[in-house]
Amino acid sequence: MKRSLYCAEVTEKNIGQRLTLAGWMHARRDHGGVLFVDLRDRTGVVQVVFNPEAKDLFTQAEQLRSEFVIQVIGTVRPRPEGTKNPNLATGAVEVVAESLEVFNKAKTPAFEISEHNEASEDVRLKFRYLDLRRPPLQRNMILRHKVTHVVRDLLNREGFLELETPMLTRSTPEGARDFLVPSRMTPGHFYALPQSPQLFKQVLMVAGYDRYYQIARCFRDEDLRADRQLEFTQIDLEMSFIDEEDIMQLVERMVALAFKEGTGLDVKLPLQRMSYAESRRRFGSDRPDLRVEAELIDLTEAFRATGFERIRANVAAGGAVRGLIHKGGAAFSRKEIDDLTKYAQSVGAQGLAWLKVGENGAIESPIAKFLSDAEKTAVVSTAGAKTGDIVFVVSDKLKVAENVLGALRLHLWSQFIVKGKPPALNDQARFLWVTDFPLFDWSDEDKRWVSVHHPFTTPRPEDLETLSKLDPAEEVTNPNSILGTFRARAYDVVLNGTELGGGSIRIHDAETQRWVLALLGLSREDMQEKFGFLLDALESGAPPHGGLAIGLDRLVALMAGEDSIRDVIPFPKTARGTCLVSGAPGLADPKTLRELGLPQPGPKTVPAPQKSPTGTNA
Ligand code: AMO
Repeated sequence: MKRSLYCAEVTEKNIGQRLTLAGWMHARRDHGGVLFVDLRDRTGVVQVVFNPEAKDLFTQAEQLRSEFVIQVIGTVRPRPEGTKNPNLATGAVEVVAESLEVFNKAKTPAFEISEHNEASEDVRLKFRYLDLRRPPLQRNMILRHKVTHVVRDLLNREGFLELETPMLTRSTPEGARDFLVPSRMTPGHFYALPQSPQLFKQVLMVAGYDRYYQIARCFRDEDLRADRQLEFTQIDLEMSFIDEEDIMQLVERMVALAFKEGTGLDVKLPLQRMSYAESRRRFGSDRPDLRVEAELIDLTEAFRATGFERIRANVAAGGAVRGLIHKGGAAFSRKEIDDLTKYAQSVGAQGLAWLKVGENGAIESPIAKFLSDAEKTAVVSTAGAKTGDIVFVVSDKLKVAENVLGALRLHLWSQFIVKGKPPALNDQARFLWVTDFPLFDWSDEDKRWVSVHHPFTTPRPEDLETLSKLDPAEEVTNPNSILGTFRARAYDVVLNGTELGGGSIRIHDAETQRWVLALLGLSREDMQEKFGFLLDALESGAPPHGGLAIGLDRLVALMAGEDSIRDVIPFPKTARGTCLVSGAPGLADPKTLRELGLPQPGPKTVPAPQKSPTGTNA
């Protein structure tokens, strides 16, 4: 049974050797009575030759079909001149078969096992074991392994302990919904699956394990996007007796090593740093894509006294006007501008104004008739627009104006500058740290303040004193509270517009922690009930500490040049949160429900099984 080598390892140095190879029948070609079989495993393919002279063997080989699992024993020889394939690692050799064993037959696969796959995503996810046989996914899985391997190696070398934290636990708030698991032994009670190991890693610091890491699975019941899954993996770490610098430098070493090993990219250290305020002001985002040149422009003053009533009223009410130039955009057609307007509306704009700059500064704009010549000049000169450019203008609350133009900035780049084909990562990798995040953010939905990162992030020392004097009861529901001005000792690492990871220095004193939880609207009872164990730990000798978590799936997806993290996860969920391989989520059987003290679903509450496009229940 033992194989001598993986398929793609067979090269000219093996010529003359008798090898045992095993794998899947990839392709079969009949050339002038000789059978050529491409044998494939996770490394690649090697060509096996069956000669008609060995009659039984030849007949046996003729029965082979795609994806049969076989073993071949044979001798390596050079391929005849003119038949060598320089694009293949094994392209200079072939193996002349002496024996063949079929371990298993296979049904005709749902799609071809090849570099490109035209099948729909649902079909690919249902037959994931077939899709995983394809070279692009094999490369991605191997890359994923390599990244975790070098990260582990580095952290082990630097004295970190790899420790596991519980999966069945209490809620760990990271801003998403929890997945709950009913407890059989304590009926009516639930475990929550961790949104991150946050609380336990802090407790480990209190316990004195001052350098911890974990390649940790996290669970968040949130709407799925290309860079989000219900369960995903973090490279999670925490350190004691450190400050931001220590964490950031460690993470820089880690990221640089991972990229060097994974893609060969030399990441220049130290990484650029930018405050949250600057990032929002210039790029309308807290994870700016620095490959995109255009920046937002403040046009509030230029429009303060405008004759255009909607904009003037917005500015008078404390709103903002922001602009964005697209060079050469004066050539946009009506249809293109309509599409851009629709895009802006889809990301929260009420409308999108624009000014085209023509020859001699002539302005064409749907709002031109409301603007004085001085205003037009002010807009063009503030924006620095030149002949042939277009200036897009959004007037709204500051946050909305920045969000909309921040998104439009990326959209314009993708549609009109790189035209859907962004440069390869190794040609343009723009990393940066975003620092000095606000501590709290006002939630219009909940009508209260929420944490920007999580409630365990410490405020800057200069804000601590003010914070400790506030009356939580007054501040919690006051949208104009001074809470909005506090800054956190938090940092995110961003690559080409994707948030790779984030972390912070934590609150390590119980009183401050209680105060922050109170400012987030928790009563004393609530905080004891939810975070009592953390508060107790913080009162039991907690060292100053901090850490960070990198999204492993996002990191690998960026390295692999994949648009979706689904392509770097062995068994991802669909956008609807289903696992098409196993059919999860499924119904529980009545006995299990009884044991858990859960109600039996009545006929009306049983959801109809969804049909997958392949006709099977998903
Ligand atoms: P945060 O919530 O920012 O921080 O998560 C850290 C990183 O995890 C990745 N990530 C995700 N990846 C895939 N699917 C998701 N649904 C998803 N959600 C997050 C992102 C993100 O940057 N405990 C803190 C870290 C800390 O403070 O140490 C935390 O979880 O890449």
